[in-house]
Parts: sequence; structure tokens; C-alpha cells
Amino acid sequence: MRIETIGPATLYLGDCRDILPTLHKVDAVITAPPYGIGACAGTGKYGRLRVDGASPAWDASPVDHDLLAICLTYGELQIVFGGNYFSLPPSRNFLVWNKGAGFKGRDFAECEIAWCSWDGNARVLTYDPLAGRDYVGKEHPTQKPVPVMRWCIEQTKGAQTILDPFMGSGTTGVACVELDRQFIGIEREPKYFDIACKRIALAVAESKQRLFEPGEVA
Ligand SMILES: C[S@@+](CC[C@H](N)C(=O)[O-])C[C@H]1O[C@@H](n2cnc3c(N)ncnc32)[C@H](O)[C@@H]1O
Repeated sequence: MRIETIGPATLYLGDCRDILPTLHKVDAVITAPPYGIGACAGTGKYGRLRVDGASPAWDASPVDHDLLAICLTYGELQIVFGGNYFSLPPSRNFLVWNKGAGFKGRDFAECEIAWCSWDGNARVLTYDPLAGRDYVGKEHPTQKPVPVMRWCIEQTKGAQTILDPFMGSGTTGVACVELDRQFIGIEREPKYFDIACKRIALAVAESKQRLFEPGEVA
């Protein structure tokens, strides 16, 4: 098992099935498990383009239901992206990421849905990743935009330590660094783990730099 500590983030390379029993419960689990949409297999299901031919078919089937249930026990609050793909308890509280005009009528989903474990009113964020240039230099087939993950973290109203057991390229961790939260991430593919380390280290360096930037003088 490889463990990297980068600023407020502790990152584990390995299967979350093996690593979770070594961890304590945290304030929130915020994650996007494999949906089983074939993000890296051939042309993919649902007409998706293959975006990462070099990776193993980690998205050939949705994450095992029992494993997801175990993961969720590690957070006081839970947010699961792709909530519509999994068998989760009924909830009024969904976060809807509307991808905006750039995705209207295209061969991709126009929105994504995140299930929340606590009661609340459903919320919508309209954020166009094409306009935001989030997919320029994208390093993971299902990489989320950082502003979307920041918005999810903000919905938890103060969760200080956040766990993503299916970390991928570490977007949840980057958002945690930007919001000054502690982060624990687990990823089993070495290629994505290294990308997550690199992205989170950059976010830590940028946040330190911001501390030394001169403030506005009134
Ligand atoms: C949908 S992706 C997450 C993408 C991430 N939200 C991002 O922005 O990059 C799910 C990730 O979970 C990883 N994964 C799948 N099963 C796992 C397991 N049992 N333990 C740890 N990681 C796993 C896959 O390798 C994949 O990178």
C-alpha cells in the first residue's frame, strides 16, 4: 500500500475494500463511484466516445452495491454522484449539475445527479464545463470540474474532513484544498493515483501562493 500526505490530503493507492477498515469515520463521504457506463471500453455504452483507451475497463460495470454501502458508513453525511445508477434510500435531497447550453442536445448527458443522505431541498448548479475550459487537459475519463465538487462540499454546511473512496484524478481533493478542508482519497489505479497526487500538490502550492499575494489596499 502506498500512502502520500500532501498538505491537508492523505492519499491511499489501493482498493478501498482493503483500506477503509484501517480508517476512522469522517464528516462526509463525497464520491463518484464507477457508474458502469463503459467510460473506457470501446466506444462505450450509450454512444459515449472512448476517452481513455489505455486504462483497464474499470467502468465496465457499476460498483458493487455492498461495497458502496460499506463506503457510505464512513461518513456522517454522504453525497454520491451518479445517484440514479445505484440502489440508494429514497431522498428529497439531490444535487443536480446542469451542464448548460454547451451540452444541450449533444450526445452526452445534459446533467448529472448526486444523491444526498440528509433531508433538504434539491439544488441545481448550472455550470458549463466547456465554457469553464475544465476539459482542457482532462486526465481522467470521468473527471469532474473542480467548481462542481466545491459546490457539493459547500452543501455539507461545514464538513471538515471529507473522504472519497473512488478518488480517480482527485477532483474532490483539489476542491477540499481550495476550501481549506481535510481530505482522504483512495484510488486503486496507479495511473490515476499519480495524477491525483500531482493535481492536489499543485492545488496546495497555489493555495500557499495566494496566502502571500498582496491584498487590496483600501
Ligand atoms: C468515476 S471515477 C472517479 C472520477 C473522479 N471523480 C474524478 O474527478 O477524477 C471512479 C474511480 O474509482 C476507481 N475505483 C474503482 N473501484 C475502486 C476500488 N474498489 N477502490 C478504489 N478505487 C476504485 C476507478 O479506478 C476510477 O478511477
